[in-house]
Amino acid sequence: MKIAIGSDHGGFVQKGIIRQFLAEAGHEVTDMGAHSFNPIDDYPEFSRKVAEAVLDGRAERGILICGSGVGASIAANKFPGIRAAVCHDTFSARQGVEDDNMNVLCMGERVVGHELAKEIVERFISARFSGAERHLRRLKEVTEMEKEFLKPAGGAGPC
Ligand code: RB5
Repeated sequence: MKIAIGSDHGGFVQKGIIRQFLAEAGHEVTDMGAHSFNPIDDYPEFSRKVAEAVLDGRAERGILICGSGVGASIAANKFPGIRAAVCHDTFSARQGVEDDNMNVLCMGERVVGHELAKEIVERFISARFSGAERHLRRLKEVTEMEKEFLKPAGGAGPC
């Protein structure tokens, strides 16, 4: 699977571990940065890069790691079409895809250890959206909210 991964300083070490874990499992991983440890970098930049890679098809799934996973997920969810969530357990990582079609997994390096993070990622990557009618119905409602409240990428023209 093509996977885009990103982190700020808070998730930098774990990003490297997960990137290697995925590459060894045969996935095509694109590292969207940070490419070096910078203790004052900001997570929105990396959420944007991962979100854009998922939305334009360079990646099928995204993974974001910051200190808690929270900031990265908040930023990623500003992009219409991105369904990002913080998952610090394997159940949510799997069910988030199967039921909610989650396409970006967010984790906090300060919350989960590296071994648990690998298991969470493995469940996320191997899960597939069920396509069940009730989940499609709920996702349609979410998409309608996006259309109503989020401007599409590129924004509106001058007004
Ligand atoms: C950075 O120190 C930290 O705030 C960030 O990585 C993340 O945890 C934000 O949610």
